[in-house]
Amino acid sequence: MTDAKREHWDAVYRTKAADSVSWYQPTPEPSLRALDALQLPVATSLIDVGGGASSLVDRLVERGWSDLTVLDIAAPALDVAKARLGDEAARIAWVIADVTVWRPERRYDVWHDRAVFHFLTEPEQRLAYRRALEAGTSPGSIVIIATFAPDGPERCSGLPVQRYDAAALATAFSSAFTLEREWRQDHTTPGGGRQPFQWCVFRKR
Ligand SMILES: C[S@@+](CC[C@H](N)C(=O)[O-])C[C@H]1O[C@@H](n2cnc3c(N)ncnc32)[C@H](O)[C@@H]1O
Repeated sequence: MTDAKREHWDAVYRTKAADSVSWYQPTPEPSLRALDALQLPVATSLIDVGGGASSLVDRLVERGWSDLTVLDIAAPALDVAKARLGDEAARIAWVIADVTVWRPERRYDVWHDRAVFHFLTEPEQRLAYRRALEAGTSPGSIVIIATFAPDGPERCSGLPVQRYDAAALATAFSSAFTLEREWRQDHTTPGGGRQPFQWCVFRKR
């Protein structure tokens, strides 16, 4: 399963320009706004799970954040981000892994996931994700998660997705996380399409 998933995502990043994929954002505005609202110190540790080629870490490095990790199943995605960052890439920890089999070796203050959890359409995949999430966070850690909303697309990158409203995400993470904020956001794809996202901020109990 992991091999097929990795091959899918490797092929996406090998064959498409990073700024042409449907999830591309010139600036990761919703994530930055969510972090701004939390007023976190720059020493806060953050992992961008399924971060792909996102420029979230670029923007955080510019702001002085010093403990950043990007995890993705697709090495070519991380290669795009590293090439873009140049020398600054050395300031970031890069992890090539399937989050559903990954065993975190440390805990993070912030776990950020934009458009990754929604690919887990089987209960056992979601359980495996939650195991990694619980092992990779501490009481007080923040989880920022964005999935397609109930009126969002049924597929992303050719794969089926599970769509969520805030109540459904809160239920999915209710074992250890308390919902603090939620909002909807319309993402505009590079092709001009509209994709409604559901965002949630949780804190670990
Ligand atoms: C829709 S893209 C979103 C990328 C990035 N979060 C963003 O907002 O630009 C989904 C990303 O999740 C990665 N991914 C998918 N399944 C994964 C898994 N099981 N473990 C780790 N990464 C995964 C893909 O390689 C891809 O980079």
